[in-house]
Amino acid sequence: MFSIGTLKLKYPIILAPLAGITDLPYRLFNRQFGCELAFTEMINSQSLAYRSNATFKMLEHPKEDSPLGLQLVAKDPDYLERSLDIAASYKFEIIDFNAGCPQKKVTGTGRGAALLQEPQKLCQLLKIITKKAKVPVTAKVRIGWNSSSDHVGIAKAVEDAGCDAVFIHGRTRDQFYGKGVNYDKIREMKEAISIPVIGSGDVLDHDSAKEMLEQAKVDGLLVARGSIGNPWIFKELETLFDKKKKFTRPDPSALIKTMKEHLFIHCQYHGSKRGVLSFRKFFHAYTFGFKDIRKTRRIIDKISSYEKMLEVCDSLEGSEYAIKA
Ligand SMILES: Cc1cc2nc3c(=O)[nH]c(=O)nc-3n(C[C@H](O)[C@H](O)[C@H](O)COP(=O)(O)O)c2cc1C
Repeated sequence: MFSIGTLKLKYPIILAPLAGITDLPYRLFNRQFGCELAFTEMINSQSLAYRSNATFKMLEHPKEDSPLGLQLVAKDPDYLERSLDIAASYKFEIIDFNAGCPQKKVTGTGRGAALLQEPQKLCQLLKIITKKAKVPVTAKVRIGWNSSSDHVGIAKAVEDAGCDAVFIHGRTRDQFYGKGVNYDKIREMKEAISIPVIGSGDVLDHDSAKEMLEQAKVDGLLVARGSIGNPWIFKELETLFDKKKKFTRPDPSALIKTMKEHLFIHCQYHGSKRGVLSFRKFFHAYTFGFKDIRKTRRIIDKISSYEKMLEVCDSLEGSEYAIKA
């Protein structure tokens, strides 16, 4: 059992917030494969405070989509408070605060990873949430803005604010999503605080997750890009926590079947036209191991009909596939 405040999970394996990816169908689909706790995509407090319809849609979820965390990004205390009031009428089991987004449009306005340069401001914003929220509160940070940031100070600011856990992405803002997750810095942050630390960064399969656990000594794992086109990752990572569990990778036929099921639920939610277009990235990810897939991907990138996309999925049956050991 793993706890974040009052929330109990069977395994410390969590689906990360991923803008443009972890929408309602994505979360529901991954839950069928063992994902227990998931997060919304990053929600801008200001848009929520202004009651934007598009933002409301991102908050809606049925009870099957739980436990679910709401992730907010903010820099203004007033908008943050107002967004918390509005979000209170939706049922979330956790509130997470984003202090890790590296995108210029976010950091340029002092939000996301920009707050890593101001641990005191970060702490003040987090205190607004911990004071108001009736559910556990977490923060998602990086190891710093750049390699000279005070990474330990960032971890302490999160703990001082009264958060129940912290997600630490082992890259600096300068690194964006590039190579080189720094396990040492995550471990140093973990050693400086006593709340649970969940490690993020290249948690892609059994071996990379094991490395995160052993090198960074974290309490839990955050699965991000490793889930895209690979909902089986949750079962794979469970074997790290329960030695009795066995994991076998799906064969190509099972993979194609899963991809079609995902396409269905995705298009049901987004409508077939928009759904087919936004599913392309998932098709690319699912077909990673297929031989000579480039030509098929080029076809997929021109398709806008659901039926055509299904046909292309079916055409992969019998293709050569390099199954990872
Ligand atoms: C497409 C994409 C969207 C992301 N969106 C968010 C987000 O909305 N909120 C957030 O805190 N992190 C976001 N992240 C960061 C991930 O949650 C995660 O920390 C990061 O990708 C490192 O993990 P990985 O190397 O295993 O992918 C995003 C990452 C990617 C690649």
